Amino acid sequence: MVRKTIAVLTSGGDAPGMNAAIRAVVRSAIFSGFRAVGVRRGFNGLIKGDVFELNLRSVSHILSQGGTVLYSARSSEFMTDNGQNQAVETCKSLGIDCVVVIGGDGSFNGALALSKKGIPCIGIPGTIDNDIQCSEYTIGFDTAMNTAMEMVDKIRDTTESHDRCSIVEVMGRRCGDLALKTGIAVGATAILIPEVKIDIQRDVIDRINFVQKTSKRHFIIIVAEGVGGIDNLADQIEKGTGIATRSTILGHVQRGGSPTLQDRVMGSLLGSYAIKIFEEELVNRVVAIKNGKVTNYAIDEALKMKKNIDYELYGIAMKVSI
Ligand code: F6P
Repeated sequence: MVRKTIAVLTSGGDAPGMNAAIRAVVRSAIFSGFRAVGVRRGFNGLIKGDVFELNLRSVSHILSQGGTVLYSARSSEFMTDNGQNQAVETCKSLGIDCVVVIGGDGSFNGALALSKKGIPCIGIPGTIDNDIQCSEYTIGFDTAMNTAMEMVDKIRDTTESHDRCSIVEVMGRRCGDLALKTGIAVGATAILIPEVKIDIQRDVIDRINFVQKTSKRHFIIIVAEGVGGIDNLADQIEKGTGIATRSTILGHVQRGGSPTLQDRVMGSLLGSYAIKIFEEELVNRVVAIKNGKVTNYAIDEALKMKKNIDYELYGIAMKVSI
C-alpha cells in the first residue's frame, strides 16, 4: 500500500510557535504511518517544487526556536492562476495528498484556492495578530503580547524618569487584540484600536488632564497599527496637555523570540489535531480553538466569520488604568 504524503508549509508573517506546529504535524503524521515533506518559503516553494523529505529527527530542537524553520513568504505569484496551477502540478508530481498550511487568513485564502483545484488542504492558525475569525487563539499571539509588554515596560522607565507621555504602536494589522491585551498589561491610560471609535479630545487629552490632577505625571498610550497616526497624536497630546510626548513603533521585534509555553503547547495541539482530522478524512478545513477546545471548520466557512474583540475587557481597561 502506498503511504499517504502530507506536506507542511508556513506562509505569511512568521509567528513564534510555528516550529512547534511543524514538529507536531511531522511527528504525528509519521506516527500515523504517513510520509511527511516540508515546503520552503510558503506557496512559493510549492510553485518552485522546493519540497524535501522530513523524518522524526528533522524536527528535533526546533520547539524553542522563534521564526519558522521552513521559512515563510507572502507569495504574489500564488495569487495568479498560473502560479496556482504550477503549485498543483508540484503536488501531483510529488504525490502530495494533503498540504498543511500554517499561517493567517491570507494563507487560508491560498489553501482555499488550492483545494478548489483538487489539492486537499488543512489550515492551522499561526499569526501574532490573533485575527483569525474562526479561532479564539492563533499561534504566536502570546509570545508577541509578552514581548510587547516587556518592551513597553522598558519604555515606561524612561517615560517616568522624564515625566513624559509615550505613545507605543503595536502590530495587529486590522485587529486590535494585541494592542488591547498589551494595553491592559502595561496599564495604558488610553488604548486606541480599530474596533472602538474614540474621540481624541475626550478619550485621550481630557483623560490625561483629569489623571494629571490625581498627581500622576507620566502616561502610556497604546495604539494599534490599524489606527496608526502616532506622530500626529503626539503633537495633539503635547498641545492639549502640555506634556512632552514621544512616539515609538515597536515593529518586527514583536514577531521574534523563543515561543512562550502557551505557543509551544498550542502549536503542538493544533499541529497534531490537523493530522487527526486528516486521518478521519476531513480535509479542506481550518483547525481552531473554540470555547477553549480544539475544533475545525470548512475553510470557506471559516473565512466568512467575523472576528470580535472582547469589548468587556476594553471597558475594564478604561476603568482600571486611571
Ligand atoms: O500578520 C502579522 C504582521 O506582523 C502584522 O501585524 C503586520 O501588519 C504585518 O504582518 C507586517 O508584515 P510584513 O512583515 O510583511 O511587513
